[in-house]
Amino acid sequence: MTNSTQVRHFLTLMDLDPLELKAVIARATELKRMHHAKQRHTPLEQRTLAMIFEKSSTRTRVSFEAGMAQLGGTSLFLSPRDTQLGRGEPIEDTARVLSRMVDGVMMRTFDHADLETFARHSSVPVINGLTDRCHPCQLLADMQTYAEHRGAIDGKTVTWVGDGNNMCNSYINAARQFDFDLRIACPEGFEPPPDMLALGGNRCRIVRDPQCAVDGADLVVTDTWISMGQEEDKARREQAFAQYTVDRTLLERASPDVLLLHCLPAYRGKEVTAEVLDAPDSAVWDEAENRLHAQKALLEFLLG
Ligand code: CP
Ligand code: NVA
Repeated sequence: MTNSTQVRHFLTLMDLDPLELKAVIARATELKRMHHAKQRHTPLEQRTLAMIFEKSSTRTRVSFEAGMAQLGGTSLFLSPRDTQLGRGEPIEDTARVLSRMVDGVMMRTFDHADLETFARHSSVPVINGLTDRCHPCQLLADMQTYAEHRGAIDGKTVTWVGDGNNMCNSYINAARQFDFDLRIACPEGFEPPPDMLALGGNRCRIVRDPQCAVDGADLVVTDTWISMGQEEDKARREQAFAQYTVDRTLLERASPDVLLLHCLPAYRGKEVTAEVLDAPDSAVWDEAENRLHAQKALLEFLLG
């Protein structure tokens, strides 16, 4: 039996419609202004968010934990090491039990199907804090950051340079939801999965050569070549991606007012040079901060 008929989840960017996504992002900018003005805003008093982390995290954990506290609620950090999930209690049972005790669940895990199973058996909203397939919370922050720095993204050209990974997949979803063109520059064998690319429709295409892919781009985005869980493939990946570093020469091919985003953590000298990461056309620190504001807006939307 599933409990999920009424409840809204945020497993991918496709779970909200474009108008809802725009509203959440506009609200995030408003919550940011209120936070900077030290305005108290506690609509989630008495609410609890459980956070299941099966992978490491700095930004996601801190932004959800601080966000819940600022909204007047509380959060619980749960790792498989300390819970029965790690000893084999089924995901379905864990979802049913947590649903009886908390008001929302954020989950960071490997297999996206596990997150979907959890959501099917949860009677409270479930938020994807990153799976091997996608990272939609990061896209809320990225879209907020682009809007704050450069205005509307619809009709713009976005170039993804690097691995066709979870972040790339969420950019494919974003191309649909926010109506921009996405060029993906990745080496052969590192493309996003075909079903993801198909979802992007005519909004997305693979452009092998990073130089051509970045030509005239309004936004350039990259991410680590070695995602969590791929550590054993490090040597092969570093070799495959050697021509895909985002450096000043590459960025000079983009639009003069290009913005650079990176979800972080960054590996300077690998997918991005230190010079580019710390330059004025990089908005990565604002992007990291916006995780806090964007997720507070999402929590208000789902739990409020
Ligand atoms: N960008 C991001 O999700 O960072 P963490 O892995 O530190 O949460
Ligand atoms: N692609 C990276 C993103 C980290 C936030 C990973 O999955 O490790």
